[in-house]
Amino acid sequence: MTPDAAFFALHRDLPREGPGQAEDVHWALYTAAVPQDARICDLACGPGADTRTLAKARPRARITAIDLQPHFVAAAQALVAPYGERVQVHQGDMADVTGPYDLIWCAGGLYFLGVTEGLRRWRGALAPGGHVAFSEPCLPPRPSQSAVDFWADYPAISGIEGIRARVEAADYQILGERMVIGGAWSDYYGPLSRRIALLRPGAPAGLSRVLDEAETEIARWQAAPDDIAYALLVVAPK
Ligand SMILES: C[S@@+](CC[C@H](N)C(=O)[O-])C[C@H]1O[C@@H](n2cnc3c(N)ncnc32)[C@H](O)[C@@H]1O
Repeated sequence: MTPDAAFFALHRDLPREGPGQAEDVHWALYTAAVPQDARICDLACGPGADTRTLAKARPRARITAIDLQPHFVAAAQALVAPYGERVQVHQGDMADVTGPYDLIWCAGGLYFLGVTEGLRRWRGALAPGGHVAFSEPCLPPRPSQSAVDFWADYPAISGIEGIRARVEAADYQILGERMVIGGAWSDYYGPLSRRIALLRPGAPAGLSRVLDEAETEIARWQAAPDDIAYALLVVAPK
């Protein structure tokens, strides 16, 4: 089994692919004052949990969701099917988004492009007065060793000041920020733990390695749940 195949054997049939809760989406809609009939794009939508929250929260909005992985696209399409034509999910690269959108929502995906680079690219996809809401790994002011270990594979990790600087470098202003912490992570890691337990019996070597890595990640989070956060920011071009 290839490393990619093993990774996606684990990352399948999960309600979401990163930490987050519906209240994060509601906070961003409120902070950005997103109109009822907005054009919204959920970039790196994964299996579509936030796409559905956006569809419920803005029943007159037109929503486009995009992800690179076909099996996430299929899962998200099934999830939002009850909302009809006004919610569309496509396979694609978030670097190529065109718009125009009143809100670009991106939970746990912008780091694939880099905060500054991604915000620069998305500027042209925003309608006048449009906003971007994105979540990004964030260290607390005095991180524990567990938190440092947790983010060891993400060299761009910084505290909130570092994220603000990357937003500023893209020539955007910040309208609001809050931490995604605690329950938002258990909502992700609870189902992931259950999937590890399901796949563990008889798992081939390649898959076992991926399951071990995911267990280590969860154990590090359990050792310091108050230290491990995404920052969620609502930003707009200056
Ligand atoms: C950490 S997951 C977050 C998924 C979802 N937003 C959520 O919170 O459940 C990151 C997602 O980014 C997607 N992704 C990675 N690179 C991408 C790209 N260039 N364009 C679109 N999606 C991408 C992955 O397929 C994955 O679904």
